[in-house]
Amino acid sequence: MHPSKGIQYTKSRILEGKKIILGVTGSIAAVQAFELSRELMRHGADVHVAMTQDAEKFITAVSMHFATGNEVTTEIDGRTQHVSFLGEYEGQADLLLISPCTSNTISKVAAGICDTSVTTMACVALGTKVPLMIVPAMNLAMYENPAVQRNVEFLKGAGVTFVGPDISGKKAKNAGTQEIVEAVITKLGKNRLAGKKLLVIGGAAREMIDDVRVISNISSGETAVELALAAARQGAETELWHASMSVSIPDFIKSKKFESVNDLIKMIPDENEYDIVLVPAALSDYSPVRQKGKISSDEEQITLTLTKLPKVLPQLRRTARFLAGFKAESTGGEELIKKAKARMDENSLDMIVANNILDVSEGKTKSKIILKDGTIETFEGSKAELAERIIESIAEHIE
Ligand SMILES: Cc1cc2nc3c(=O)[nH]c(=O)nc-3n(C[C@H](O)[C@H](O)[C@H](O)COP(=O)(O)O)c2cc1C
Repeated sequence: MHPSKGIQYTKSRILEGKKIILGVTGSIAAVQAFELSRELMRHGADVHVAMTQDAEKFITAVSMHFATGNEVTTEIDGRTQHVSFLGEYEGQADLLLISPCTSNTISKVAAGICDTSVTTMACVALGTKVPLMIVPAMNLAMYENPAVQRNVEFLKGAGVTFVGPDISGKKAKNAGTQEIVEAVITKLGKNRLAGKKLLVIGGAAREMIDDVRVISNISSGETAVELALAAARQGAETELWHASMSVSIPDFIKSKKFESVNDLIKMIPDENEYDIVLVPAALSDYSPVRQKGKISSDEEQITLTLTKLPKVLPQLRRTARFLAGFKAESTGGEELIKKAKARMDENSLDMIVANNILDVSEGKTKSKIILKDGTIETFEGSKAELAERIIESIAEHIE
């Protein structure tokens, strides 16, 4: 095995068994191809690179050979790589991903021109219906050129998936590595939640003590982000409402911020709007009676009066067809299950994920996934793996 392949599966097995041809063309964004190929491999993909001559002005075939552990096609030769990778033969690729894709290559692919290794591969892929995904990379003026726009629309009509660009003001921002990898996972995945509207509510709520201080908690929001990613990978139309987070939210996930429990309650729609709502948020049970201004720092002792806040889960019930809550306790075993089931009944939940706080460390967790029908699954692994399992379990139950 090529030593570079050692990174395969280091993040997940979600692309296990998937062969991806990565077409690289002559944009400055070609420098991203090294990391993109490695990230796809971390999720288990086998990546084979085809490069145009202009791409070689920006990165070398040697680097991409090293990155992927596979030979790079810079020219179609007697091996007929376009046919062996994309023709209807054993070992046919699962996806042709052209990233970055220049305006030149988009237009040639739309016209059926096959004069580089990448355009020739695309020509075959469109004929054999191997999925083709294009990540355009060019400045806004090139992208808005009417001929390029016509070609983009033509290719979309022919079933090609476009990832980005994100147009804001006078800029066309290329999709980043994570957004591309997520789009690939969604494209090649089972899409068991396609057409479903899903909301994740996460992070640490903050209740104001005075105008500058808050009562909050140490929830990082990591589980919420992982759930949103796992749901999007299964094709769900995903939103993340979040309070304070200490992990970053990928910018391709639609998100809205709230501060306190009462802010969150105001955001809940009156009607049934979501197919699935998951609430790993650490929401406050009590709120201080807020004092105006700033409490003096000179007092020896101060007393805060806390009042009980309304419960959020019962209010979410009206907008969610499937509602999942989370319960962190400082007990485990039967006691944890008993408490979790009581919370499930109180709030008419469809699922509850419970854990002993002692079983959670950075990136790792041990949890019980409990369903309304009484099924209990014990799960141990990273937060990303737990999120993946929760989303799969929901898909199994709402199908
Ligand atoms: C420094 C530099 C950066 C470029 N960046 C882009 C780009 O981002 N997008 C694009 O469409 N063309 C870009 N070009 C122009 C392409 O390289 C040119 O159109 C070339 O013919 C593309 O060939 P290919 O599509 O076969 O790779 C750039 C050229 C240079 C010299």
